[in-house]
Amino acid sequence: MSKRRFLVTSALPYSNGRLHVGHVAGAYLPADTYVRYLRARGDEVRFICGSDDNGVASLISARKEGRTVEELTAHYNARQAADFAGLGIRFDIYGGTHQPKFVELHNRISQGFFRTAFDKGYFVKKTTKQLYDVQANQFLPDRYVKGKCYNCGAEGAYGDQCEACGVSIDPMKLIYPISTITNTKPEPRETTHWYMQLPQFEEKLRAWLEAKRQPQGDCPPWRETVLNFSLGQIKQGLPERAMTRDLHWGVPVPLDDPDAAGKVLYVWFDAPIGYVSFTAELCQQVDGDWKAYERWWKDPDCRIVHFIGEDNTVFHALTWPAMLMAEGSYQLPWQVVANSFLNIKFPGKEEEKISKSRGTAIWIEEYLKMFEADPLRYYLTAIAPESQRTTFDVDDFITRNNGELVNALGNFVNRTMTFVQKYLDNKVPAVGDRQQVDTDHLANIAAHAERVTARLDTLRFRAAMEEIMNLARASNAYFDAKKPWQQRKDDLAACGTSLNVCIQTVKALMTLMAPFLPFSAEKCLKMLNLDVTALAWDQATVELAPGHALGEPVILFQKLDPKVVFADMQ
Ligand code: MF3
Ligand code: ZN
Repeated sequence: MSKRRFLVTSALPYSNGRLHVGHVAGAYLPADTYVRYLRARGDEVRFICGSDDNGVASLISARKEGRTVEELTAHYNARQAADFAGLGIRFDIYGGTHQPKFVELHNRISQGFFRTAFDKGYFVKKTTKQLYDVQANQFLPDRYVKGKCYNCGAEGAYGDQCEACGVSIDPMKLIYPISTITNTKPEPRETTHWYMQLPQFEEKLRAWLEAKRQPQGDCPPWRETVLNFSLGQIKQGLPERAMTRDLHWGVPVPLDDPDAAGKVLYVWFDAPIGYVSFTAELCQQVDGDWKAYERWWKDPDCRIVHFIGEDNTVFHALTWPAMLMAEGSYQLPWQVVANSFLNIKFPGKEEEKISKSRGTAIWIEEYLKMFEADPLRYYLTAIAPESQRTTFDVDDFITRNNGELVNALGNFVNRTMTFVQKYLDNKVPAVGDRQQVDTDHLANIAAHAERVTARLDTLRFRAAMEEIMNLARASNAYFDAKKPWQQRKDDLAACGTSLNVCIQTVKALMTLMAPFLPFSAEKCLKMLNLDVTALAWDQATVELAPGHALGEPVILFQKLDPKVVFADMQ
């Protein structure tokens, strides 16, 4: 296939807390794996992320932590960037919608976006009653109010979204609303806002989403979970939605209207535009021209892929595309890839939801103090919640690290590399006289590589990695069957033939695993004495020439001790 162009985004995390394994499994690790794969294929990619600084979530945390919202969001923006870097999740830019380096361009692009949609008549100005906290002397948009969900009956639904059923919430309809600032019962008061006419987009959205059930060119069908949820929402009818708020923290509403004074855009209006404004900032840095973002956002030749957690589905598959349709000059997402949440299970305890307040989370910062990134990348892909909730089970994490990474993949690479170093001069041995068993194994590698490719192209990361592990196990079986330790004594040339095949296998495994386990692939590159160009996807089964000198063997993966891990992860 020829070189294609991709703009890949991961949901912008709120800069009001640290990242845990659930975040990473949802919107970040699969995106990074995909980007690394596309790059290995030779596609041109920009990978965009940054923090979602505006809105009520940050204001609430700032109040709780007793610092300014600027301080809070700067702190967590840096913390999150460091966590991502530690995991090898490598964005081309990590912005922040209210970070000093980004806020000006972000506001300009967000305001321009709003104005364009406004001028086309997609907003209606309305004065309605909204919840007001008399004690705090302010309106209570979004998370400033909690109550019982009128859709599913769950307690503690926020004024913007019910976390139990995923629907977006009209706070005026919450049953038993309560202010999260003062815990008092709010009263309705009049205020003026601009409402986006989402019902006008129902038909267009429905047709667009329905078409995503089928493959379109090289675009695989969207995940059922995303389509079913979004089409179900359209069936119920999309509500008109206020896109402005009575707040001082955010993007000022760009209207001359005196009613707009002291109001900002709704955070879910400006946040996805962060994808655009961070792309623009990247273009400014790379090309010296921020307007070059249009090459990524407005050229139908570029494929836009959004990776998100399931709770973001309504905003990425409905609201955001409607915004893009309203603005009119952008293209729509090529893919919206949503993952479910992770539960967590500590040894000897029941499986439970990840919760900051209950202390049932594994924080990336803490994990990285003790362990390497790749075992976590491995496990989070192995249990990827691609179609339903899955569980991070600490015992299972150890078992799979020791049984799969160490015993299958690591062992094969290690026994091959140390054998060649010890007995075969640390060079790629001669091809020699290949037998059926040898050519069969090489054909098996090619067949596995094809399946890995097919699964990555259809965004099935978990299944793709399973194929790689199957290949690792088949490779150990090949090694065992050939008994090179015996061949070495009986027939050194035949032994060389076996190890030549093993080295070709290591090279193929390295290329295939690089998007998943980049740090280990890096070590393999050194062991094979190759540079990064060797990671090109279509080179996976291109054989290394006999006589090529190899590097020093190193151990790829370490066994983990259940007792130590358990103690450390609490
Ligand atoms: N901050 C949101 C969350 O963590 C995600 C925002 S994604 C964006 O749920 F599209 F709005 F940027
Ligand atoms: Zn609900």
